[in-house]
Amino acid sequence: MTALSGVVMDLCFSTHLANQAEKDAAPNLTLRGFDFIDRLKSQLEAECPGVVSCADIIALAARDSIVTTGGPFWRVPTGRRDGVISRLLEAQNNIPPPFGNFTTLQTLFANHGLDLKDLVLLSGAHTIGVSHCSSFSNRLYNFTGVGDQDPAFGHRKTFDLSYYTLVLKRRGLFESDAALLTNSVTSSLITQLLQGSVENFFVEFAKSVEKMGRINVKTGSQGEIRKQCAFVNS
Ligand code: HEM
Repeated sequence: MTALSGVVMDLCFSTHLANQAEKDAAPNLTLRGFDFIDRLKSQLEAECPGVVSCADIIALAARDSIVTTGGPFWRVPTGRRDGVISRLLEAQNNIPPPFGNFTTLQTLFANHGLDLKDLVLLSGAHTIGVSHCSSFSNRLYNFTGVGDQDPAFGHRKTFDLSYYTLVLKRRGLFESDAALLTNSVTSSLITQLLQGSVENFFVEFAKSVEKMGRINVKTGSQGEIRKQCAFVNS
């Protein structure tokens, strides 16, 4: 390949990535529940068209799914508007990978004003949900290249403190979960959470989610209220 064709290929590759949406980014490929969000949106549009954004619907649905699994209720400030730009690279560069070490997690959270306490509390959401093999299978087979298994592996369900118990027992599912033990601040935050009540965790978790819910929010005349959540308005 000549140097020029290499440059052309690089340009094509970057343009191709630049033309893809957030949903096409690797960390978003396993997201599910879009059909549910679409149903909520169409019911809301039928009642009061053009008022409730998809961003608000997602924030409210996230809160309600935590309540449904036994977690805390908190008031979700609304009034967000929807973005009109969606870029694969933005999602790829901002969403922490499950293979992330402590420094990567700390940096990606700090880039959005979230501190180590937020990192520990928000990771607590991994007390619920499922994961696909691709996010952790490297820990099962040949973890260090000698056909071995990552010693810190395990999993769990309902919304409570059990995530932290498992992380402390070195049974966090992702390397990012296990990474919380590799720093003295985050590991002692985990110990403190486990020494406190589940109610205390709920209150602190809710505060961090509210903080996360205020990141880069569009209000006023910014963005739009989408008619359909999967598309910008034409
Ligand atoms: C600390 C950085 C984080 C990393 C590296 C991370 C990574 C992941 C990965 C890889 C999955 C599994 C995806 C799959 O295989 O389908 C997952 C699932 C999940 N994550 Fe995180 N996550 C992080 C933070 C968060 C935060 C802040 C929340 C919410 C407050 C959260 C809530 C969830 C939930 C609820 C699931 C289960 C989803 C389902 O059942 O479909 N995670 N996370």
